[in-house]
Amino acid sequence: MFSSPGSDDKRERALFLGSDVSDALDLWAELENRRISLPSDRVKSKGFTGASVASVIVHGDPERHEDDRNVMAKAVPFADRDEVRNHREAVLNAPPEFVDRLVKLHFGPVVVADGAKIVFFQDVAGGTTKYRPVSQLCLDDEVEDLVDTVAGVSMAVATLWNRKITVRPIPVEQFLRTEIQHLSSGAGSLDRAAAEFLPHAVSVPWVRTTKDDPIAPNPFMATEEGHPAFEGRSIEVLGGFSHGDLHLDNVMVLRDELGAHPGSFRLIDLRTYEENAPRTRDQCMLLLSTVVLFWRTLATRERKALLTAICDPHREPDAGLDRRLAWLIGQMYGATNRLADQNNFGQAWYRQYLLGIAATAVRFTTFGNIPAEVRWWFVRLAARALRRYCDEAGIVVDDRLAPAAPGYTPSSDKRSTGADAEGQSAMPAVGTGNLDGFVLGRLHQHPPGRTSPDRQDGSVAP
Ligand SMILES: Nc1ncnc2c1ncn2[C@@H]1O[C@H](COP(=O)(O)OP(=O)(O)O)[C@@H](O)[C@H]1O
Ligand SMILES: [Mg+2]
Repeated sequence: MFSSPGSDDKRERALFLGSDVSDALDLWAELENRRISLPSDRVKSKGFTGASVASVIVHGDPERHEDDRNVMAKAVPFADRDEVRNHREAVLNAPPEFVDRLVKLHFGPVVVADGAKIVFFQDVAGGTTKYRPVSQLCLDDEVEDLVDTVAGVSMAVATLWNRKITVRPIPVEQFLRTEIQHLSSGAGSLDRAAAEFLPHAVSVPWVRTTKDDPIAPNPFMATEEGHPAFEGRSIEVLGGFSHGDLHLDNVMVLRDELGAHPGSFRLIDLRTYEENAPRTRDQCMLLLSTVVLFWRTLATRERKALLTAICDPHREPDAGLDRRLAWLIGQMYGATNRLADQNNFGQAWYRQYLLGIAATAVRFTTFGNIPAEVRWWFVRLAARALRRYCDEAGIVVDDRLAPAAPGYTPSSDKRSTGADAEGQSAMPAVGTGNLDGFVLGRLHQHPPGRTSPDRQDGSVAP
C-alpha cells in the first residue's frame, strides 16, 4: 500500500477526525507501537447513518516490519459494532473472482473512550482517492458510464459473487415482510407513508392507486398477516450472498482525467451483509436507486412506461422509454434469469422479482430524502408489481373490489412535467419535495423533514 508523507500535527488530526476519535486512535497506536498521521491527499465523508469516514495513515510497527497503510477510518455508533463482523464475514466468504470488489478491513476495531463509538479501518476503495460513489457521476455527460457501471455491478453480483443456486420455499407474507422491514428503523415510517399516500385505504386490502392503474393488493398491507392475496402461499426464493444496502452511494468507481471506469467498481459499507438473503434484495435496490437518479430526466410518459417496463422485463419495452434504462432493466433481470432458467427456476425468479420490486418500492416510499412525487410513483410501482404477481400466480382479483382510489395527488407533476390527469383525486396535495435540490441516490432512511447531516464530500443533502 502506498503512503504519502503525512502530517503529524496532533491539533490538525483532532480537527480533521474529531478529538474523541483522534485521541482513541493515538492511544491505540501507542499501545500497538504504531503511529497515526494524516495523508496530504485526504478525504472525509459523512454518511446518513451518522458515520464519519476519514483518511489516515497507520504507520506500522517497525519491530514487526509492518508497512505503512493509507486507510479509511470509519467511526460508527458503538451499537453498530456488528458492521465490523458482517463486513469481515463478507470478505471471508467471497469467492476469489469477486473478493477484490469488496474493500478489505485492516487491524482490529478501536473503541472510542466512552464506548460511544467504534472505529475500524478499511482500504481506500481502489487504493486511490480518485474513486467516487457512482451516484456522483454526471447524468449529462457520464450517463453511459453510470449505466454500464450499474449493469456491471448487477452482473458481477448475480454471477461472480453468487455462482451457486440455492433455493428455499418462503411464505409470501414472510418474504414481503422481511424485505420491506429489512433496514427499516421501525414500522412507524411505513404507517406514515400509508397515511400520506393512501389515507382512505390504510387498512383496505385492495386498492387502485390511480384510475389508470389496476386493482392491486394494498402495498402497505403486505406486511400484515392474512392478506387475502398472499395467505397460505409460498414462493421458491433464490438466495445468496447479499450486500443488503446496494444503492449508488455504496458503489465506488474510479473517475480520473480520462473519465469514469465502469469496470473498476468496489463495494463499501457492508454493515447489512447476509450470507443467504434473497437475490432480489441487491438487484432491486440497485435498479430502483438508479431510477431515482434518473427521475428528473424522465418525461411523464416515460415514468408511466417505466412502471410497465419494470414489471414486465421479458417484454420489449415501450419505444418511448429512455433506451438506457430499458437496456438496464433487461440486463439486470436477465443476469439472474439466465442462471435460474438453466436450473428450471425461471418462473420462480420472475415471481420473486415481482415481490422483490414491490417490497423495495414500499421501502422507497418511506425515504425522507426522496420527494413525495417520486415516492408516490413507488407506491404505484409496488401496487403494479403485486398485481402482476397475482396474475402470474393465478390469484383471481375481483376488479370490483376497490373503487378508483382517492389517493395522493402529486401537485408538482403539473408544474414540472406537464403531467396528464393521472393520479388526480379529491384529496388535497401533500407537500412535495423540491426536485432541483434533490440529490438523488442518497437513500438512507430518515423521517421526512429531518435535517440531513452535513456532507463534506462536496455534495448537498436534500
Ligand atoms: N473505503 C472507502 N474508500 C473511499 N471512500 C469511502 C470508503 N468508505 C466510505 N467512503 C465514503 O464515505 C461515504 C460514507 O461511507 P459509508 O461506509 O457508506 O457510510 P454510511 O454507513 O453512513 O452510509 C461513502 O459514500 C464514500 O463516499
Ligand atoms: Mg453507505
